[in-house]
Amino acid sequence: MDGKVAPNAVAAVSEARQWERLMEMAEFGAIPGQGVNRACLTPLDRAARRLLIGWGTAIGLAPSIDELGNLFLRHEGSEAGLAPVLTGSHMDSQPNGGRFDGIWGVIGGLEAIQALREAGVATKRPIELVAWTNEEGGRFAPGCMGSMAYAGYRRADTWDSVTDSEGLSFGAELAKQLALEADIPRRGLGVVDGTAPFAYVEAHIEQGPLLESRDLDIGVVEGIQGSRWFQVEILGKSDHAGTTPLSLRQDSVQDMLRAITALNALMHDPADVLRFTVGRIEVAPNTSNSVAERVRFTVDCRHPDKAVLAVRGDAIAGVVQSALRQCRATVTERFHAPPSLFAPLVPGVVEAAAKAQGLGTLRMTSGAFHDAQFMVSLCPTGMIFVPSRAGVSHHPSEYSSPAQLAAGARVLAATLAELANR
Ligand code: HGY
Ligand code: MN
Ligand code: MN
Repeated sequence: MDGKVAPNAVAAVSEARQWERLMEMAEFGAIPGQGVNRACLTPLDRAARRLLIGWGTAIGLAPSIDELGNLFLRHEGSEAGLAPVLTGSHMDSQPNGGRFDGIWGVIGGLEAIQALREAGVATKRPIELVAWTNEEGGRFAPGCMGSMAYAGYRRADTWDSVTDSEGLSFGAELAKQLALEADIPRRGLGVVDGTAPFAYVEAHIEQGPLLESRDLDIGVVEGIQGSRWFQVEILGKSDHAGTTPLSLRQDSVQDMLRAITALNALMHDPADVLRFTVGRIEVAPNTSNSVAERVRFTVDCRHPDKAVLAVRGDAIAGVVQSALRQCRATVTERFHAPPSLFAPLVPGVVEAAAKAQGLGTLRMTSGAFHDAQFMVSLCPTGMIFVPSRAGVSHHPSEYSSPAQLAAGARVLAATLAELANR
């Protein structure tokens, strides 16, 4: 770590400015309990993006967007033509989300870049701040659409026909957003003219209890566990609740219960490492006095071991089919983010930066998925975690303190300075 860089950049990080920006941004989609509901490709999302662009252009960063709507703010380097260092995260939230998941990685990235510029730290390489489209996958499943398309993991038009709960398609909503942001310069998607980023580093709240429970400041993330998402649709027949004998019913709710019970058995893990969640259930016609004709429920399955994720995930369809008594089911896989391991470069720089600032560090694997998962195939990748109060996230009570977030931004500033001068 070059001594003359870190202290200036680190000292220039403003805890107050970062916190004020986070609180101003949290007004876009504010919900009771200090939470946020800001889905992607909505007027709220667009207003939040305009606010970020305003902050970025005010300090001389150049905005651009690609065909997935990924938003970039570029700090120029001193040597033309060098591959940029990329940093950022996502601006969309869960429907019952918090004020920090994703958005801190974007505002923290802005704070780190602004600190570098205010401290007069020259960087050989450009640094680009990115806000990825639809990381959460709440409105349109799956998540990480922007980063998957950017990394070439999936074609840009893969999800055009995916619809939200109101029947609006991702493709149409994205086209609308691109039209409304036509004044923002456009750029090619992903690795344009062959230059992949030099490195990618994402700052994010931990969304778990480890750092707080060990009274440590910085998580040096070495990898991310794998995630697989499925939708299970069970089709039966709607009947009158009062006149139809149970023996004659094709009740999709009853078969859903059998299917989920069977999946619980499939996903049982005495070591409690595997994660299995049924988080969303839709019933039709959804009235108390009609037998349910159709049920759709989601399956979110995660594990750090690729083989376990493959075996358990691949077994889901068969287990569901075998559990049914009255109905038929369709199981569709919607997302498969393989477990990812970061090359040592970026975690090493993050850890050195944190230790140089006297911060307590912990090397760890992320239980949550992130856009960083898809950058691994393009360039050296890493993440910086800061503690989450009681490990809570995806809830309005999600909280990290101004000081914790400032410590994260200081480590990010030193990390960016180091990487952008390699
Ligand atoms: O679901 C996740 O792991 C991420 O927080 N979107
Ligand atoms: Mn996130
Ligand atoms: Mn999230």
